[in-house]
Amino acid sequence: MSSKRTVSIFGVTGSVGTSACDVILNAPGRFEVQTVTAGRNVEKLAQAARTLSAKQAVIADEALLEPLKSKLAGTGIEAMGGRQALIEAAAQPADILLAAIVGFEGLRPILSALENGVNVAIANKEPLVAAGHLVKEAAKKGGAKLIPVDSEHNAIFQVLEQHNRSAVEKVILTASGGPFLNWTYEQMAKATPEQAVAHPNWSMGPKISVDSATMMNKALEIIEAAVLFDLKPEQIEVLIHPQSVVHSLVAYKDGSQLAQLGESDMRVPIAHALAWPDRLEKGGRTLDLASVSTLSFSRPDFDKFPALVYADECLKRGAAACIALNAANETAVQAFLERRIGFMDILGAVSHALADERCNPAAKTPKTVEEIEKLDQTVRALTEEYIAARQTHGQHRKAVSPS
Ligand SMILES: NC(=O)c1ccc[n+]([C@@H]2O[C@H](COP(=O)([O-])OP(=O)(O)OC[C@H]3O[C@@H](n4cnc5c(N)ncnc54)[C@H](OP(=O)(O)O)[C@@H]3O)[C@@H](O)[C@H]2O)c1
Repeated sequence: MSSKRTVSIFGVTGSVGTSACDVILNAPGRFEVQTVTAGRNVEKLAQAARTLSAKQAVIADEALLEPLKSKLAGTGIEAMGGRQALIEAAAQPADILLAAIVGFEGLRPILSALENGVNVAIANKEPLVAAGHLVKEAAKKGGAKLIPVDSEHNAIFQVLEQHNRSAVEKVILTASGGPFLNWTYEQMAKATPEQAVAHPNWSMGPKISVDSATMMNKALEIIEAAVLFDLKPEQIEVLIHPQSVVHSLVAYKDGSQLAQLGESDMRVPIAHALAWPDRLEKGGRTLDLASVSTLSFSRPDFDKFPALVYADECLKRGAAACIALNAANETAVQAFLERRIGFMDILGAVSHALADERCNPAAKTPKTVEEIEKLDQTVRALTEEYIAARQTHGQHRKAVSPS
């Protein structure tokens, strides 16, 4: 990179956001920070803004603007608050915005950045799942680029030969299998939130950790890959690879398979995405293959992890089903983390939402952001009804109580 790159970090207080701070601090003179944002964590947001010498800090919860202002008093860093402020901040000139907010809530800022010509390094996968076509349209409209940060998609992005797309047979997404890979159904039914968030390889936020345990994370990634790389469902395969060293592969029609390898360290794909098309001198930990010694691969168990089947079905059914999958999952994961339902109820809630007539192919396909948000809200409401019914029947209590 010849000159300093201006970067904004949306979701700076989270797991991906914290790794991005490390990458920037390890590359002195390479980045200038425009905006950093958080949902509610004022303390950590103000600290990140100071450490990174950001120009602006935005807290999504408007009620927390005054505490943010007082923490930033005398620094010259502008403090803003509210959902609209987040959308406006995303539109400000920057070379790249790292989208690291968790959930569908990250959609509007991503659209705002792209429409205004700001390239987006995208970790926040849920908006791609629920509104992939809108995200791509916004990028086209603003002449902006989308650079994948999710380790699997960043791997595919790195090995995909752009000039040779018609030679691609399929992509192979690797999956660690999460903490319950070798658990029985009966054990999983009793899983607690603490057990579900204890990922064997990656240290991540609570929502994506639970998604990894149900393998819904891989389901979301299947849809994410279809959107980012214009793939048909049959061109996306999942392989269980418990070591999380091979992050994904591209298989060409001539028999070659190209892979990207690395440590389970999000700083590696973040460094790649923030510097692309250049590379930084320092990103994350360097892989030592000799110390790994064994790499193993196997096919997933679709009966135990039906989320993978749902992803395929949703891609075939279209936008409404993808919105429903995501909204039901976000709602159910939150309920599980709050111990309102058991672990297996998460997939029950998703299956319930997908059976709703508003999510089937005959239903009107939501196209605008307002239509997508409306269906998202409808599915969240019907999922809360499902959760309430599970609570009434007391089904979850056995699941979360210590045995
Ligand atoms: N963690 C990983 O290794 C990883 C890898 C690949 C992809 N991803 C994807 O990256 C995204 C972030 O994951 P994460 O693990 O970093 O999540 P996380 O640790 O939970 O952090 C989420 C971030 O979003 C902010 N946030 C939460 N609710 C918000 C709202 N309503 N409005 C605005 N900001 C809000 C949080 O702020 P507060 O701290 O104030 O709540 C925090 O900064 C997810 O979409 C995930 O699937 C993560």
